[in-house]
Parts: sequence; C-alpha cells; structure tokens
Amino acid sequence: MRLLVTGGAGFIGANFVHSTVREHPEDSVTVLDAFTYAGRRESLADVEDAITVVKGDISDAALVAALVAESDAVVHFAAETHVDNSLEDPWTTLQTNVVGTFAILQAVRRHDVRLHHVSTDEVYGDLELDEPSRFTESTPYNPSSPYSATKAASDLLVRAWVRSYGVRATISNCSNNYGPYQHVEKFIPRQITNVLTGRRPKLYGSGANVRDWIHVDDHNSAVRRILEKGENGRTYLIAAEGERDNLTVMRAILQALGHDPDDFDHVTDRAGHDLRYAIDPTSLYNELGWAPKHANFEEGLRATIDWYRANESWWRPLKDATEGRYEERGQ
Ligand code: NAD
Ligand code: TYD
Repeated sequence: MRLLVTGGAGFIGANFVHSTVREHPEDSVTVLDAFTYAGRRESLADVEDAITVVKGDISDAALVAALVAESDAVVHFAAETHVDNSLEDPWTTLQTNVVGTFAILQAVRRHDVRLHHVSTDEVYGDLELDEPSRFTESTPYNPSSPYSATKAASDLLVRAWVRSYGVRATISNCSNNYGPYQHVEKFIPRQITNVLTGRRPKLYGSGANVRDWIHVDDHNSAVRRILEKGENGRTYLIAAEGERDNLTVMRAILQALGHDPDDFDHVTDRAGHDLRYAIDPTSLYNELGWAPKHANFEEGLRATIDWYRANESWWRPLKDATEGRYEERGQ
C-alpha cells in the first residue's frame, strides 16, 4: 500500500509511521507535516531512510492533491491537538482541523483514494463521574472546547463527503493516548519531565477529572485494523478500558519516579474543563476482532517514564518554552 500519513511527525503519527515501517515493510510511507511546534523531525530519525517526508500544510490544496494522487490511502492525523492552546488561539485550530480536513476530502474525492480520519472522543462532550453509560458510536456530538468543536466539525465533513460524493472513508474516535514522543505540554509527559527537571508537577483543579487512557501503539494497531477491514462510512470508537482520574495518574507517576505521591501543586483549572471521558469499545472488539496489547496501564506508564528518562535529548529543547507558556497562564 502507498500510504500518505498527515501529521506523521507528531506524537501518534510518528508512532504510526514507526509501527508501519516495522510491521509492513511492503508499504511505502509518505509523511505530510507542517512541522508546527508539535511536529519534530527527530521523532522520525530512526526511520527516515525508509520513508519520504514532505514539509507542507494540509490546507495547501494543490500540494495535498498532488500527494493524494500518488497514494492508495490517506491516514489523516494532522491537527492542532492541545485544548489549552485552542482556548488561547482558536483560529489556528479551526484553520488546520476544519479547512485542512476539507482540503484532504476534496483531494481524496477527486482521486478516489481511501481515507481514514483520526478523531477524538472529545467530540461527545463529557460525562458525569457516576454516569453508568459510556460514549458509543450513536452518542450525540456535544463538544466543549475549540479543539473538540473543530474535530467534531471535521468528522461531520467526512460523513457528508461519504454520503454526498461517495468518498471511501472511515472515522475513528479514540480516548487519551500516552507513550513515547508525546509533546511535554500534555498531561503525562509534562509531569514526568517536571520531576526530571526538578520542577513540581501541576494538577488542574482537584484532579477529579477522569480520562480513559490507551497506549499509543494500541490506538495505532486499531487504526491499521480499521484501514484494512473497516466498513466504508463507519465510525469506530477506540479505547482500552483505561479510566483513571488525574489525581490517581499524578500519584502513580510520582511514585514510579520515587517521589512522595503528594509532592505536586494544584494550579488554575482549565476553562470549561471536561469532567469525564469514557468509551465503550465493544463494537471494535466484536466486529473487527481487535484487542489492546498494553492492557496494564501502570506497566505502560512505567515504560513511558523509562522512555522519557532515556530520551532527554528529544524533549529537553521543548521543555523551558512549554513551561514558560504555562507560567504565563498561571498553570
Ligand atoms: P500532535 O499535536 O502531537 O501532532 C500533530 C501533528 O500535526 C504535528 O506533527 C504537526 O506538525 C502536524 N500539523 C499540525 N497542523 C498541521 C497542518 N496545518 N498541516 C500539516 N501538518 C500539521 O497530535 P497527536 O496527539 O499525535 O494527535 C494526532 C491525531 O490524533 C489528531 O487528529 C488528534 O485529534 C487525534 N487524537 C489524539 C489523541 C491524544 O490523546 N493525543 C486522542 C484521540 C485522538
Ligand atoms: P491533556 O493531556 O491536555 O489531554 P485532554 O485535555 O485532551 O484530555 O490533559 C489530560 C487531563 O489532565 C485533563 O483533564 C487536564 C489535566 N491536566 C492537568 O491536570 N495538568 C496539566 O499540566 C495538564 C497539561 C493537564
């Protein structure tokens, strides 16, 4: 398969490229990435001889069309992904997530190329802590932040292009990922690298907010399965039964690093902070026979901590500027 991977220099995209090169050497991989603050050539250093990397914006219709024309399938990861940044700068988020996805859709429509659109469970809004139900494919969209609203908009564009133009596309909505190569602005790597640089970890509010954690390799194996076996036009929800509140995750990180589990600061909460995400992944398990390999979150967390310890040269150049931005926001 000739794969075009948008956002392939970001966290999940780079891990997808690594696993594709490792497990599907018969595929050819082209990465299209704008190399924003979140995309890094260093994340592809191990595989750079096996792939083609194009620096460009997914909103550049002519560039996207030329690359799509030479591909059998597009796996679309590129997005502005951080809720806190989207609150501060909603325009960039809208431009990339909505206009960028529109450009991808027009190109796959024109060249009749298969698309897999990578999205988030955040499109469904949030749940109460004690609510027995979880998100399913039929939960109504109810996004809260500029990030989730623009991802929801992009999902709806994909659905409309399938129905109106016969585009061959699938969508996946996944829960919170963790693992190697995640930017230090995100919750888990931020706390690990705070401890490793002698800073105190930072918890928003009381830490009661719940996220449904999945290892990035499990997300990507599900994306691959959907790409190969998914039904055209369908949405699949990806998760690994990993619900944990932020306080529990914070304490697990501190403990794994040999620190007092209460050695962190409570900081200003995020505006509109979603309380709980939880996905019911039954249909993916039953229909596509997929299952996560990293079912033990604590084990995956320890391996992730080891990766950040061993790869300081990857994250160190990002750390001070990221913390500077958080400091300005009182977080
Ligand atoms: P990331 O922020 O780490 O990486 C995004 C990548 O997209 C970067 O390499 C960046 O340079 C690139 N990019 C941004 N704007 C671009 C543009 N205009 N043109 C071309 N490239 C551009 O994000 P991630 O965490 O790897 O997320 C990837 C996808 O997975 C996103 O679509 C996100 O919504 C989705 N997702 C993420 C999570 C999570 O927990 N991180 C969970 C579910 C779904
Ligand atoms: P994040 O990694 O930003 O992912 P998302 O907002 O997409 O779920 O945050 C995960 C959770 O951790 C979220 O509830 C916000 C919280 N959080 C903190 O408590 N402290 C932090 O420093 C960050 C970045 C996030």
